[in-house]
Amino acid sequence: MKLDIIAGARPNFMKIAPIIDELERVSSLSEDRRNKIQYRLIHTGQHYDKKMSGSFFDQLGIPEPDVNLEVGSGTQAEQTARIMERYEQLLLKEPTDWVLVVGDVTSTMACSIVAKKLGMGVIHVEGGIRSNDITMPEEINRMVTDAITDIFYTTSEIANKNLQKLGHDESKIRYVGNTMIDTLLKNMSRFIKPTIWDDHQLKEKGYFVMTLHRPANVDEEVKLKSLIDEIVKGTRGMPIIFPVHPRTAKILKIIGIEAENLHMVEPLGYLEFNYLVQHAFAVITDSGGITEETTVLKVPCMTLRDNTERPETITIGTNELVGTNPKNVAPFMEKLHQGKWKTGDIPYLWDGKTAERIVNDLLNLI
Ligand code: UD1
Repeated sequence: MKLDIIAGARPNFMKIAPIIDELERVSSLSEDRRNKIQYRLIHTGQHYDKKMSGSFFDQLGIPEPDVNLEVGSGTQAEQTARIMERYEQLLLKEPTDWVLVVGDVTSTMACSIVAKKLGMGVIHVEGGIRSNDITMPEEINRMVTDAITDIFYTTSEIANKNLQKLGHDESKIRYVGNTMIDTLLKNMSRFIKPTIWDDHQLKEKGYFVMTLHRPANVDEEVKLKSLIDEIVKGTRGMPIIFPVHPRTAKILKIIGIEAENLHMVEPLGYLEFNYLVQHAFAVITDSGGITEETTVLKVPCMTLRDNTERPETITIGTNELVGTNPKNVAPFMEKLHQGKWKTGDIPYLWDGKTAERIVNDLLNLI
């Protein structure tokens, strides 16, 4: 069985790492299973910086991609078109049997379409989740990818139900857990205290970590400014470490926000970022993946979105939906400072063994 594994943007890398590790482990162990799956790692180049891509490969021990499509930046359509053109050329020259995509980024959707139109099978890791917010590019990517997926590996019972409601056959849905959490649990003992810890004299549970990059929050200057102003007020002087996504950096440059306790830094490596999260008083974010990590690390998390495709981080975990209206921030901050935040539990099958279940299932598929 020939398998292409696709990765394109930052949140993909921690999801493919444990699958590749497991494929390597299995092929080194068992004579009869060796070479049953020949995989090829394709990096689309959607994210290309050392800070957004290279450092994740280094820290998570992901092998050099076999192919880099080097599509770079662009509008949604430009990136999609470039990925499709270049991946199609590759598949026409060197076809595969199955294509495994993860998550919900542009690369996920673009490569699935190409593969399916050339008659190859599509496997979607993290299939079936929905925010029901069609204004998000990621939601469109999820819907399109799932519509042409042959095998779904899912992270939650809700994802399974979503897929069943859409009419997908039960036999295509495999509830395996969360590969992002495999990476988190595997690397927890290797987290690295970043140099900014000493630079800003951070104290255990004495600071916030913040990330913002969703167009709904960062593309509108006035809104971004009032959101950050409210957050700064709510933190009551505690340091806020804010690793700034390149998209957000461009806008912050224009509005020029400053506050004594707001420390804007470059995007951090995986091991440094999660060290900060693990020891934080709380996290403020508009990312989906981070809410899964804070759930497992049991760190309070405020999500600056009106919806989430990962509701289990709220019903089971430590996450709360604050919304995108700056006025909503204060009451959640109050709850946090009063020590009334929920402690949360860990969702079923988020146990570090998801990649093992996926690879085992892939071997049975052959
Ligand atoms: C993408 C994903 C999003 C994910 C996010 C994580 C889609 C639709 N969105 O959004 O789901 O949460 O990545 O980061 O796929 N840039 C750099 N260096 C890089 C990559 C990008 O400077 O290595 C710049 C680009 O030039 C662009 C901006 O960052 O101006 C945004 O990048 P883009 O890939 O368009 O989307 P993200 O907002 O990162």
